[in-house]
Amino acid sequence: MKNLATTDPQIHDLINKERDRQEKHLELIPSENFVSLAVMEALGSVLTNKYSEGYPGKRYYGGNEYIDQVELLAIDRAKQLFGAEHVNVQPLSGAPANIAVYFALLEPGDTILGMDLGHGGHLTHGHPVTHMAKVFNFVRYKTNAQGEIDFDNLRQMALEHKPKLILAGFSAYSRNLNYQKFKAIADEVGAYTMADIAHIAGLIAGKQLENPVPIFDVVTTTTHKTLRGPRGAMIMCKEKLAKQIDKGVFPGLQGGPHDNNTAAKAVAFKEALEPEFQTYTKQILLNAKAMELEFKARDYNICFGGTDNHLLLIDLTNKQITGKEAQDTLDIAGITLNKNAVPDDPRGPMDPSGIRLGTPAVTTRGMKEPEMKLIVEMIDRALTNKDKPEILDQIRGSVIELTAKFPLYPELAR
Ligand SMILES: Cc1ncc(COP(=O)(O)O)c(C=O)c1O
Repeated sequence: MKNLATTDPQIHDLINKERDRQEKHLELIPSENFVSLAVMEALGSVLTNKYSEGYPGKRYYGGNEYIDQVELLAIDRAKQLFGAEHVNVQPLSGAPANIAVYFALLEPGDTILGMDLGHGGHLTHGHPVTHMAKVFNFVRYKTNAQGEIDFDNLRQMALEHKPKLILAGFSAYSRNLNYQKFKAIADEVGAYTMADIAHIAGLIAGKQLENPVPIFDVVTTTTHKTLRGPRGAMIMCKEKLAKQIDKGVFPGLQGGPHDNNTAAKAVAFKEALEPEFQTYTKQILLNAKAMELEFKARDYNICFGGTDNHLLLIDLTNKQITGKEAQDTLDIAGITLNKNAVPDDPRGPMDPSGIRLGTPAVTTRGMKEPEMKLIVEMIDRALTNKDKPEILDQIRGSVIELTAKFPLYPELAR
């Protein structure tokens, strides 16, 4: 980064510090990952200079002959990965992708039936603090005592509220979804089906989890997280909704697409089409299972009974520590995860009862089951010694030792 070092030493220094932080910490936030250098090169390319409002072959600006090819490649590869009929790769991130779909398919005031936010759903699925909650009427289904989605209740709610759209998807739920059951209920009440697979898109692309794309009307996803691409998103849908969805993104919501991101998405999709990506995503699941077993052996209460995917939500109530205390303690030890509400959490969102953690990033570094066991041991030791700085210091040392064995971007110049 020699140009950056000369032009802006402050930003250069901060980027290097952040790189060291990523290198020397254990990254367990389930929505984070480490992209390849090829993805980063596409992101940092001259494509950031271009304006290309519109779609391939129908742009408002000239000079888009190569940009068109980039976008078409991204679309083709996404179609191959997920078996989608139509793909829009322009959404700038997961939140705008979801907003574009709501406005593309619904009228203000229409009802959306989505997963309760305290039971794993996402902010963009109707949290009262979002603008969308002022525009649409969100109603929420929950999980039952076994940690499964309560489809009887969901059906009752659908019959009562007559939603125009039923939304499946989550950011803190760890079990598989039965897409056919969602679809059957949506068909009964004449609702669109939408899945937000932001968290699990990589696991679906890697053929480890069921794919809702052939079943649902619309599927949104971020391209970061398990899919291991740049920050961004895409919308997949049935051909019959293609025009509506495209208009919903541009000109409905966004201006010019970020072509450097589109190129980086195409690169990530190419990587995800390789057989090694299946091996990678399989290991994400094996690692999450290994963590689950080790946590359970140490009497941790795993929400929803366990995990089928890359993440674990843990209720710390029986451990006499709050989610915030746990997050802060682990930060000192060099282990990064996030505090999180658990289903029907009696505590507030700034200091909830649980923590959420996942395995995509540590798996990208090459860590496997023995390292997962070690990490859980470290977490447990830190949480049970939260008031002992010398123990947290020792754990910090062990984290540095472990991360040094799995280097990140060793060939990247500073
Ligand atoms: C399920 C789900 N949808 C949407 C989003 C929003 O994505 P972004 O942060 O890119 O706007 C997230 C992000 O965490 C998510 O988990």
